[in-house]
Amino acid sequence: MSYENIQACAEFVRGKVNGDIPKTAMILGSGLNSLADSIEDAVVFPFNELPHFPVTTVQGHAGRMLIGKLEGVPVICMQGRVHGYEGHSGEKLAFATRVLWALGVETLVVTNAAGSLDTEAAPGSLMAITDHINLSGINPLTGINDDRIGVRFPDMGNAWDAELTQKLHKAADGLDFPLFSGVYIMVKGPNFETPAEIRAFRTMGANAVGMSTVPECLAARHCGMKVVGISSITNYAAGMVEGELTHDETMEYGAKAAVNLEKLLRKFVQDI
Ligand code: HPA
Repeated sequence: MSYENIQACAEFVRGKVNGDIPKTAMILGSGLNSLADSIEDAVVFPFNELPHFPVTTVQGHAGRMLIGKLEGVPVICMQGRVHGYEGHSGEKLAFATRVLWALGVETLVVTNAAGSLDTEAAPGSLMAITDHINLSGINPLTGINDDRIGVRFPDMGNAWDAELTQKLHKAADGLDFPLFSGVYIMVKGPNFETPAEIRAFRTMGANAVGMSTVPECLAARHCGMKVVGISSITNYAAGMVEGELTHDETMEYGAKAAVNLEKLLRKFVQDI
């Protein structure tokens, strides 16, 4: 892992921003372009202009970092992310998170698209991530540990910050849609799961399945940032309903969930 590359990227960003760097950052999954577009007074960095930054290849992920304000609150917004199924190493998946840490960010809000394992949480709904199961085989903390970043064996008892998640529910209370809660299980992908895998995941205690976010959470906890997360439910997981799962379907319901997620995030940032 290159501490120097992380610091170099952070230094580049710092050099282009007048004033304080926000203490809150968001990593936005697909479908949240309108939220990113509404960041006020934004300084924008396309990922491919950031030193050492890995660049995504996925449809629906624009790939840029914005530093500005949301509802008047200073935030850094990562629009798009890289995924393990693109072939990136754990270290690459953690790079954006570690740059945020190097910039002094203390709270990380992560969002993703996920398949639901619960019949109640229909496509288009939102789920607060209370905990995760890492079944992806990817872990950005493997390899030689850099003690300047974090300890060798970090605790994950509060990987998804209980207090922040409570605040998230408080923000959702006044809104006109439910916020479900549950455990997110990460697979590497890129294929959707088999029905047998989904049955297995359900018995393991998972409520939603997806192909991202856990490496970012691990990296963030390693360097001491607090993490809160929300899954946009884009589909019922494999075997729960008739018909094939397609990326187009996840994009369609992702767009529906995004409308509510944007409302939720706008309220939530005001109370972090
Ligand atoms: N499985 C894995 N990842 C996903 C899914 C799914 O059903 N939906 C959105 N991301």
